[in-house]
Amino acid sequence: MKRKIKVSTLQKAITKEHNKGKSVGFVPTMGALHEGHMSLIKMAREQCDVVVCSIFVNPTQFNEKSDLKKYPRTLKQDMAMLIEEGTDYLFHPSVDEIYPDGEDISVEIDLNGLDRQMEGAFRPGHFEGVVQVVHRLLDIVKPDKLFMGQKDFQQFTIIQNMIDQLKMPVDLVVCPIMREEDGLAMSSRNRRLDPDIRKKAGILNKSLKWIKKNMDELTPAQASKEAINKMTIPGFKPEYVTIINGKTLKPIRSFESHDYVVVCTAVWAGEVRLIDNLILKK
Ligand code: PAF
Repeated sequence: MKRKIKVSTLQKAITKEHNKGKSVGFVPTMGALHEGHMSLIKMAREQCDVVVCSIFVNPTQFNEKSDLKKYPRTLKQDMAMLIEEGTDYLFHPSVDEIYPDGEDISVEIDLNGLDRQMEGAFRPGHFEGVVQVVHRLLDIVKPDKLFMGQKDFQQFTIIQNMIDQLKMPVDLVVCPIMREEDGLAMSSRNRRLDPDIRKKAGILNKSLKWIKKNMDELTPAQASKEAINKMTIPGFKPEYVTIINGKTLKPIRSFESHDYVVVCTAVWAGEVRLIDNLILKK
């Protein structure tokens, strides 16, 4: 695996790969890699000739400075995992390389209100930061396919919207959520969970699955309320359980009038904010 390469070196290498007729798959990450990320690398490996992974803890998408500081950084371990999975290039840029002085890298798009739903209410400016960095990374890497996880449902929906609006020549591939044995969605944040809280964290997925099982007898509002009750156990504080139209991300009033329905949640588990989702209908 080639690593710690500069922007211009990476771009030259990728141009060479493209000139040889090779397809390039790209997995953007913020590091602290786990099996969820590895499933994206595997999928990229299956679908593309060359796999590029980036590790960049993007400061512009953190609303809390303390959250940015606490974000786990495990480069050595991450590199071992990437090598094991057969990643071809690791792009681990500095903040200055991504946001060079004087270069206009702002992205002018209309997110059609997608950024104001769910996470948007709790993390102002977060998605603008995500859009900015993913756009910049795509501009550098120029992959044929971009691989992102379903766990960040709102994130991949917004990125798809950006790709469509800007007519970017890349296909977004969304990979299913990887879960621990008790159903907890894999996340870099899980390693910060207090052990007692971790033992109970399966309640998130359990409550979402409960909705899927009982949705025929309930309205979305009733289902959300019940799931919030289920998750309100000592140490846990649900921020929202929202049942949405999977395209517009807007909350729905009835299950029957929508073909693509997803339940999304954000819950404080002790000091750690977790998110999860489940497709109820597609
Ligand atoms: O999902 C993430 O890890 C980040 O939001 C991403 C897509 C790498 C952009 O910084």
